[in-house]
Amino acid sequence: MQLSDRDTYNRGIKRIMFTEDDIRAAVQKAGRFISEEYSGKPLLLVSVLKGAFIFLSDLCRAIDVPCEIDFMEAKSYFSDTKSSGSVAVTMDLRHDVSQYHVIIVEDIIDTGRTLSEIVKLIKARSPLSLKIVTLLDKPSRRVVELDADYSLFTIPDSFVIGYGLDLAEFYRNLPYIAEFNTDLLDE
Ligand code: IMP
Ligand code: MG
Repeated sequence: MQLSDRDTYNRGIKRIMFTEDDIRAAVQKAGRFISEEYSGKPLLLVSVLKGAFIFLSDLCRAIDVPCEIDFMEAKSYFSDTKSSGSVAVTMDLRHDVSQYHVIIVEDIIDTGRTLSEIVKLIKARSPLSLKIVTLLDKPSRRVVELDADYSLFTIPDSFVIGYGLDLAEFYRNLPYIAEFNTDLLDE
């Protein structure tokens, strides 16, 4: 499978799941909800790179109360048999989270393993509060107990691409969310 080949790339896009309009409406709604909940509170949006970068950039512009933004990058190591693993922080936050109400802005919760490790890590630093907002949720795939406080879309167990989400680093720039054609993986 050579995704840099234009024809192969196009065949990877099986069907559009959420259009630009669907996403815009859901992001505006989430922004209004956050603006109401966090009015008057020091708010820090934390994004775990890279998948959530487009969602974060739209979501923060749908929020009309003061907020700050920070990024972290983590690599996770899990064995097939244990649900908990270890997460190595490859780029840490610059903010002292103990001064903030923190919202983790995530692209997708799948097994939940990566995010649950990140939640533990941030909780250990005593934020004023900690909530999770995720663009997509695949609850049927969960192996650890972890619920988002706010999820924009719940989806079945299929691999999705676009709007920041990738397959082998491709497709992040699609303006919509699509189902990936997994038949390509056999080529
Ligand atoms: P997990 O919840 O620890 O299993 O891992 C979640 C991470 O896996 C997400 O942050 C994504 O980077 C990636 N991921 C999971 N499902 C998908 C998908 O359908 N498309 C693209 N990336 C995915
Ligand atoms: Mg991610």
